[in-house]
Amino acid sequence: MTRPVIWIPRRLSDATLERARRDYDVIDNPADTPGTADEIVAMSARVDGMIPCHSEHFSAEVVERLDPRLRIVANHSVGVDHCDLPALKARGIAVTNTPGVLSDATAELAFMLLLAAARHAVEGDTLVRSGAWQDWSPALLVGRQLTGARLGIVGMGGIGQALARKARGFDMEIHYHNRRRLPSEQESGAVFHERLEDLLAVSDFLSLNCPASPQTTGLMNAERIAAMPKGSILVNAARGALVDEPALLAAIESGHLAAAGLDCFVDEPGGNPAFAAHKNIVMMPHVGSATVETRNAMGFLALDNLDAFFRGETPPNLL
Ligand code: DGY
Repeated sequence: MTRPVIWIPRRLSDATLERARRDYDVIDNPADTPGTADEIVAMSARVDGMIPCHSEHFSAEVVERLDPRLRIVANHSVGVDHCDLPALKARGIAVTNTPGVLSDATAELAFMLLLAAARHAVEGDTLVRSGAWQDWSPALLVGRQLTGARLGIVGMGGIGQALARKARGFDMEIHYHNRRRLPSEQESGAVFHERLEDLLAVSDFLSLNCPASPQTTGLMNAERIAAMPKGSILVNAARGALVDEPALLAAIESGHLAAAGLDCFVDEPGGNPAFAAHKNIVMMPHVGSATVETRNAMGFLALDNLDAFFRGETPPNLL
């Protein structure tokens, strides 16, 4: 039996590539450049499956041009906002993602942003590193304490729940908004707010952990940011599209928000150059799931999905 051919456009972990080569004929890309629309279309005539990341965009226009040889898009990501799912479904192409395995790594990164934004971590590092630290003062880099503060979580899926577990270890009071209330054993004392506005009003810290979709684009607009308490801190380790960036900037400049921690931006790569002038915006380049353990787990789960598909079974994470 001939082995399926797959395309891996980005540099996945060595363990993932090794396992992929064992079972498939792999076309990879050691240059690790994002797959363009034309590359995706050209590759679709050469392969039976692909393992793209969120950097490869399967828009309706791209999907329309795909060759019928391509049968499965096994994403190496939990977010699938880079894929036009109805268009792929209409072409009969299976789509899978990698939920669960990146929840802890992404929650750790969100928690790091919470701490870094609350305690001026980047400013402090710059001060010491640059040699500009001249004096100790009780007024130096005074931040906000997490202990006893209220953490609002928007989106209580795997990542939101992992973040809540970590925040409990810091004695934070957990509040959340989600499409559905969690069963009480999963809530573990977290306070459910049916209306997002009610959550915003009580959140000393707010973390966005929901997917990007037409319904959540611009979710944190000027009005909703204004509904957060003065001096609160906003963290986004989900998708840039959730935040109205000019509104966030205005809230930082007015002092309504004390700080922000961002792992994602409307324009990626690159981010928002206007944020760079503000020391109280802590920024990371979309690396929420970037740990050795999680990269391997994501790669292996994408391969599990491909393996099941090519065995004629339903892939575990079929969307
Ligand atoms: C995800 O898995 O969605 C992360 O953002 C990385 O792509």
